[in-house]
Amino acid sequence: MNVLLIGGGGREHAIAYALAQSKLLGQLFVAPGNAGTAMVGTNLDLNPLDFDAVASLALKKNIQLIIVGPEQPLVDGIGDHFIRDPRLSHIQVFGPSAKAALLEGSKEFAKAFMRRHQVPTASARSFNIAEIAEAKEFLGTLKPPYVLKADGLAAGKGVIIANHISQAHQALEDMLVKEKFGRASQVVVIEEFLHGEECSVFAITDGKRFKLLPPAKDYKRANDGDQGLNTGGMGCVSPVPFADQQFMEKVTRRIVIPTINGIEKENLDYKGFLFFGLMNVKGDPYVVEYNVRMGDPEAQVVIPRLKNDLLEMCLNTVNGKLKDYTVLTDQQYAVSVIAASGGYPEKYEKGKVINGLDQVEQAIVYHAGTREDKGKVLTNGGRVLAVTAIDKSLAMARKNAYHAVEKIHFDNMFYRRDIGGELDTKD
Ligand code: AMP
Ligand code: GLY
Repeated sequence: MNVLLIGGGGREHAIAYALAQSKLLGQLFVAPGNAGTAMVGTNLDLNPLDFDAVASLALKKNIQLIIVGPEQPLVDGIGDHFIRDPRLSHIQVFGPSAKAALLEGSKEFAKAFMRRHQVPTASARSFNIAEIAEAKEFLGTLKPPYVLKADGLAAGKGVIIANHISQAHQALEDMLVKEKFGRASQVVVIEEFLHGEECSVFAITDGKRFKLLPPAKDYKRANDGDQGLNTGGMGCVSPVPFADQQFMEKVTRRIVIPTINGIEKENLDYKGFLFFGLMNVKGDPYVVEYNVRMGDPEAQVVIPRLKNDLLEMCLNTVNGKLKDYTVLTDQQYAVSVIAASGGYPEKYEKGKVINGLDQVEQAIVYHAGTREDKGKVLTNGGRVLAVTAIDKSLAMARKNAYHAVEKIHFDNMFYRRDIGGELDTKD
């Protein structure tokens, strides 16, 4: 069957790379893709948010399944678009409906959903511009640090952690009055700060049943030692030593099952990946956020550990056949290190020539922000490459990932040198 994959980052290269190994695959198209996806499929110059354009291309290329990588097309209703139009109803979409995607698209919706289904999360209240005085009063009842979140999608930047009440007031004004994140911050969620270690847990679900995929730990800050600005993620490790069987049983019982039951009870049309961003608070898991897709760079460590045929897994999900489906996981460690453009996550330059890709051994280089031009691979984004190594021990996986990164060069390239470092001692 022919498949269209939407997106163009490292996550999409990891998905495309796995799909390309499927016996069920006919042609793979990626929109817009990058220089990496072009090695395993055909890139299409297409705006994934123009659903009419996606639809006509899907018809032209005889696509039977669309797999959606990023959140924006899901929140904008790509799945609903294909269900609504009878000419498109034979094309299945792996990804939730717009209503279900509000679990990521609106923090207020997600918080209310968690409250309705008793899913453990930080206590929170939401406020609009008319409620600034109440918001300040509420902040006064909390202890620092203060967590303020833009309700809507803000490209991973909508969370502000303020150490002082004056900073929290400023952040509130910036979001509600100055609309720092545009419409996304017309409503602000203020919540209790959770102290603990973060990890990401993933499921595939058809809205009734689910199967867990291996957990991962993302390194969100730009610099070593968790210093610097928040990014989309600078590296990742899977599995996560503290997410042991006992912890995962709690996650399943207290978080995953009530969430899936809630999705079913509320008739949310959900077929796709579901990502639980969790905080481990002294052994007890709390939801920090839901995402309605795979993570990036989590996909670059989770997907290579799956032994299943990824296309078959997606088909079982969209066809509601997860009951007897088994997810098989490679027990080895995967470590992924992001090579980023100098300046990221703020201003950075594009168009730098990437050298050394052919020197890499014992690692997979997933492309993120890259494009091909006259036989050269050029940088085309903030996060440029995700270099993933897999090995029996975390130490060896780290060593191989870093060894591979060191072979690669482009102007102003930088990367964190401590991905998986603090976990290594427990290996
Ligand atoms: P989010 O976009 O909701 O994942 O938030 C971005 C990051 O902010 C998370 O990965 C956490 O590191 C941090 N964060 C969000 N909410 C909380 C919270 N309630 N307590 C502590 N840290 C948080
Ligand atoms: N790495 C975090 C995310 O994909 O949201």
